[in-house]
Amino acid sequence: MTVPERQTANLEYLDLDPARPSPRERVLAGLKRPRKEISPEFFYDRRGSELFRRITELPEYYPTRTERSIFALHGSEMARWAGRDSVLIEPGAGDCTKVEALLDHLGPRAYVPLDVSGDFLLARARELAGDFPALPVTAVCADFDQIESLAQYLPPGRRLFFYPGSTLGNLTPDEALIFLRKLRGIMGADGGLLLGLDRHKDPAILEAAYNDPGGVTAAFNLNALRHLNRILPADFDPEAFRHRAFYNRERYRIEMHLESLRDQTVDCAGTTVHFARGETLHTENSCKYTPEGTRALLEKAGLQLRKSWYDERELFGVHYCTP
Ligand code: AVI
Repeated sequence: MTVPERQTANLEYLDLDPARPSPRERVLAGLKRPRKEISPEFFYDRRGSELFRRITELPEYYPTRTERSIFALHGSEMARWAGRDSVLIEPGAGDCTKVEALLDHLGPRAYVPLDVSGDFLLARARELAGDFPALPVTAVCADFDQIESLAQYLPPGRRLFFYPGSTLGNLTPDEALIFLRKLRGIMGADGGLLLGLDRHKDPAILEAAYNDPGGVTAAFNLNALRHLNRILPADFDPEAFRHRAFYNRERYRIEMHLESLRDQTVDCAGTTVHFARGETLHTENSCKYTPEGTRALLEKAGLQLRKSWYDERELFGVHYCTP
């Protein structure tokens, strides 16, 4: 369905009706692999989104607050590079809060947040449209695979993509390349991308960020099982798994897993899945990039790195690149 729905003064909502394989098929495909895995998207039901919000406030989890501090310090310079009056497009916008730090600086002619979770996006886009009544907002319910078909719905103007939060890091480098090439494809010759990416660094800092002593990240990871129990349905016992997160030094990524505490079988939508004691379910990668790695990835995608901003401790980077 591609018709505009639920229009209010400066808010338009488009549902591109993401046609995805059902969660059941996707989850079972991952559980049948020799190394069991599920997509990190299953973290994010209502409770998972709340747990993630709490993670972003943990002292150990530096990325969110560090990126915010980079926006606060360098926002006006970013706008000088990225230009004002663009159509600002944010894939995976979620709660639309990260962009708020830059809206005054970037002065976009329109803001287009995209997310698969349409209702949540619409609610947040409505609040943002209320807070910025002069800004036309077009909220689009779509998934990454639909980025290319988005072009026809965009308001006219130069296209500036905004992809903060190191969300790109949750894709493998190969997936990230495919995604960036898609953005590049609809960016236009005069467009650009502002990209927030977490840096490769001392593994002790990284591992602390994903193993908080209060167990919020553990609860977030285990919540994926509760979420699957509800939507498949399945009968995972979250008490029979434990959170594990470690830095894979060869692949420059934090890996999150759920480790089975005993031999057990789980019913997943009518299919019996066996977990040996100690076996893990891989739930997330969070790739970290060196400055060279960032440049190389962007170049492979046909994008030229023009300028990077870091915090004082060089924990996190925000990069501006153009075709
Ligand atoms: C959303 N994403 C960038 C977070 C990350 O750091 O990879 C998700 C997260 N997983 C555990 N803690 C936070």
